[in-house]
Amino acid sequence: MVQFADRMKDMKGSDIRDILRFAAVPGMYYFAGGMPAPELFPVQEMKACADLVMDEMGASAMQYSSTEGYPRLREQIAQRLAEKNNIHADKDQILITSGSQQGLDYAGRVFLNEGDVVVMESPSYLGAINAFKTCQPRFVTVPTDEDGMIMEALDQVLATTPNVKMIYVIPDFQNPTGRTWPLERRKQFMEIVNRYEIPVVEDNPYGELRFDGAPLPALKSLDTKELIIYLGTFSKILAPGYRLAWVCAGAEILKKFNIMQQAASLQASTVSQMETAKYLDTYSVDAHIAAIRETYARRCRLMVDTMAATFPEAVRFTRPKGGLFTWAELPAQIDTRVMAKQALEKMVAYVPGAGFFPNGGNNHCLRLNYSNMPDERIVDGITILAEVIKENLAR
Ligand SMILES: Cc1ncc(COP(=O)(O)O)c(C=O)c1O
Repeated sequence: MVQFADRMKDMKGSDIRDILRFAAVPGMYYFAGGMPAPELFPVQEMKACADLVMDEMGASAMQYSSTEGYPRLREQIAQRLAEKNNIHADKDQILITSGSQQGLDYAGRVFLNEGDVVVMESPSYLGAINAFKTCQPRFVTVPTDEDGMIMEALDQVLATTPNVKMIYVIPDFQNPTGRTWPLERRKQFMEIVNRYEIPVVEDNPYGELRFDGAPLPALKSLDTKELIIYLGTFSKILAPGYRLAWVCAGAEILKKFNIMQQAASLQASTVSQMETAKYLDTYSVDAHIAAIRETYARRCRLMVDTMAATFPEAVRFTRPKGGLFTWAELPAQIDTRVMAKQALEKMVAYVPGAGFFPNGGNNHCLRLNYSNMPDERIVDGITILAEVIKENLAR
């Protein structure tokens, strides 16, 4: 019989990937994966960029290139980080990866030995939990409220838990809850981590997708000790299919990520990087993001308003001001994994909440995505889901 490594014991396929296959089922009300609105992808513009890259770069677009990434793209990212996030980094502090998911994988492998502790919000991004699991760490979670991670609880965890090697957080429009940390919490967080001097992965795929209120500073912009490893991605502001993202960190840490990338994949796709850089030089990504925000604002409002109108009162849910997700907590007797099958029979797909808790439990939660479905399908699909919830409550 084939023998597998111990790490495979705890590794399961993600609930999201399982449900992703339902996205292609015709007629499905698909609120599961975090898929951007496909009709907003700049298809014609990227087609023109692909032509320009082939004309101008020729064979070098198809060649191997540097591990750290295409210099022009790293310059453009550095410039955006300064303009949008008040993060002042040189292009040499940026490493291009194949999606932020790869940055998460590297983070785990750079910082975590088997049995080491990784601290994260409860709940947190399922994909990060899965990425870190390959290192067989111990997950210690910090409770959250409407304003994200509770800082007194974080302080308590760090004061009482030995062997904490990394903290993973999503302060902006968190996946799965859609919640955002206010400024005061960000400052408190920095004060705490500066005391303990533990590296922090700040994962920020959604910060630019704010459709309500004023932007808040990234933790990285408040970082005075080079403790923050900032992950950004083109997946939600351009298109996930190019698989392009970046890690921004201090030199000592970034060097380790670079070495990990040399071992894992050599580099991100040369042609993807060149085409994306060409897009950023030729078109206004800000205008594109503005269109995304407008659409998601409308879809989010439609979804939460329909939830408010149709869900039983006992269901609590978030009203996000940006990002892609809302999060619902149902009465404890409902198991959202069991209910997911009933919902799928009625052509509604969501992600059960349990996978977002690394230490299990919380079977009564679910995550809903509002970016992917056209407006009218949001109202119809949520109304059907409300019926499924009511049937379960009546049992
Ligand atoms: C919080 C978070 N981190 C990372 C990722 C992965 O993004 P990418 O497509 O850049 O790999 C996602 C994708 O949904 C996410 O929600």
